[in-house]
This record gives sequence, C-alpha cells and structure tokens, in this order.
Amino acid sequence: MSKKISLTGIKPTGAPHFGNYIGAVRPALEMANSDEYEGIYFIADYHSLTSVHDPKLLNEYIYEVAATWLACGLNPDKTTIYLQSQVSEVMEFNWILSCFTSKGLMNRAHAYKAFVQKNEELGRDEDQGVNMGLYTYPILMACDILIHKADVVPVGEDQLQHVEISRDIANAFNHNYKKELFKLPEGMARKGVMLPGLDGRKMSKSYNNHIPLFLDEKKLRKTVMKITTDSTPPEAPKDPNASLVFDLFKFFANESQQAELAAWYKRGIGWGEAKDELFKVMNNEIGEAREKYNHYMSNKHLIDEILHAGAAKLRPGIQEYLKEVKEVIGVR
Ligand code: TRP
Repeated sequence: MSKKISLTGIKPTGAPHFGNYIGAVRPALEMANSDEYEGIYFIADYHSLTSVHDPKLLNEYIYEVAATWLACGLNPDKTTIYLQSQVSEVMEFNWILSCFTSKGLMNRAHAYKAFVQKNEELGRDEDQGVNMGLYTYPILMACDILIHKADVVPVGEDQLQHVEISRDIANAFNHNYKKELFKLPEGMARKGVMLPGLDGRKMSKSYNNHIPLFLDEKKLRKTVMKITTDSTPPEAPKDPNASLVFDLFKFFANESQQAELAAWYKRGIGWGEAKDELFKVMNNEIGEAREKYNHYMSNKHLIDEILHAGAAKLRPGIQEYLKEVKEVIGVR
C-alpha cells in the first residue's frame, strides 16, 4: 500500500525566528523525517503576494524560507519541496474551484474576518486594504491541498479552518458531478508549542520581541542578553519555575542540563550567567544549521535547483489530474 500524503505550505513573509522554529519548523521536520507519510512541503509565494508587494523582499523571503527548511533538515530526496508559483496549473484549478465556492464561505473565513474587524475598530471602511487575494486566500489554499490528493495537512491551529474550507469546496464539487474526484483532506493541528519572546509574551515579529534564527554567534549572544529579568542580586537563590530564561532554556536543553541549571538557580545564579547558559544551548541547537543556511544563501542556485526539481517531479501528475477535472466539467 502506498503511503499517505502529508502536505503543508509555508508562507514566506520574513526570515524565520526561534518562535517559528520551535512552533512550526522543528515539529514539521520531525514528521517529515518519520517515514510515516510521503511529505510534500511547498513555499506558498502566491499567498505572500496578498501582503508582500515589493519584488526584492518577496524574492528574499522565498530564499530565506527555503534555505531555513533545508538547513534545518528537510531532505529533498525524501520530502518533495517546491515553489507554488512554479506549478502554475494550480491557477487553473483556482478558477475552477472558485466557481464552487460560495461567497458566504469566504465571508466566514477567520483571517478575512479579523481584518475587517480591525478596520471596524479603527473606524475605517470595512474593506480598506482588503484585496481579492486576501479575500479568496482559502480557495488557493484548497487548490494547493486538493491537487496533490493530500490525506493530511499538518498546520498551526489558526489554519485549521482553511483546511475545513478545502473539504467544503471539494465536497461541493464532488457532489455536483456525482464523482469522488477530490479527496477530502484531514487537518492536523500542531500541538500549541509556544516559545516566549524576549519580554515573556509569545515570540512574534509584530511584538518585536523575537530572536532571528540565524544570527551569528556574537549577535545571538547579545540578543539573548536582552531577555527581561528582574533585579534580584546574583547570589540570591532563584526559582527556575518562575524564570523566563529557564522557560526558554527548557526548549533547547536535555533533562540533565535542565537539572544542572535548576540546581545552580537554587544556589544563586547571576542573570548574565543564566543567559549565557541559555545562549549555549540555543547556539548548540542551531549551530550546524546556521552553517548550512549560510552556505545555501551564498549559493542560491542550489536552492533554485532543488525547487525546480520538486516542481518538475510533481507537475506531470498534476497536469494529468487537471485534464481529468476539465473533462468532468466540460471544458477543453
Ligand atoms: N495559509 C498557510 C499559512 O499561512 C500557508 C499555506 C498555503 C498552506 N497553502 C497551504 C498550508 C496548503 C497548508 C496547506 O500558514
């Protein structure tokens, strides 16, 4: 029996930080390397186009994201990786599926609704800044999923609704033609691992409390030193369970390292020392990947080759599928 297909898209909207790494990259790669599924991971550049309108930036983001995943352990011989815009058949599917998507379904999509709500809160016209790409975002996402006959779609919790929408669209189509042409995908929520940022809130670029993933050693150390701490003197015993530095440490350290640092906390540790320990485990986690990342970023043709190969491998099957769909709907 052939393996089930696990598919996910990565939207390139900026260089990944440690929060993305812990929350998305690391768990997705564990799954990709687990042998349980046949993995297809793609870079959703057309989804970024809904908000990124600067060509240099978009291009940079694509490379940064591709290089990050490759550097962190995505093996392109095992998991197919491609660039969404290089499988242009998805755009034909996009129109076809648009014609089976009710406008009401799009009105109810969380991402769009949140945008409108924010406009209302700010007293603006509700559609201000809403382009049609943002509005129909879930249709393109459904196409991404359905063209591969994906079985499971591992995503963050915020994207589960979009996977549900894919099922609705596929159902509407199948129902109309009385044919199981599209496979209904299952959303799979990644566990909500949430890394705190420099100030203790969720690490996020929008809070400006993030630690970029591939800073060089010196800058990484400097950034780690910015973590918020209180003014308890170095010699005072400290509670590891009430410490942001220790919270972060746990994501990168093994059990014996955690026990050792906890003991040091109880004996009394200076915040500079605690942060230095954190820096060491973070640097250890990412050090090898950083070298690979830098190698890819200074040899971008390597990334291009991998992405091209991924698209080339998948396109013939997708073209055949498209032909089948076109026959069913009655176009040529
Ligand atoms: N919308 C997803 C996100 O913002 C990215 C994405 C695009 C995606 N197409 C997809 C995820 C298809 C899963 C399947 O994270």
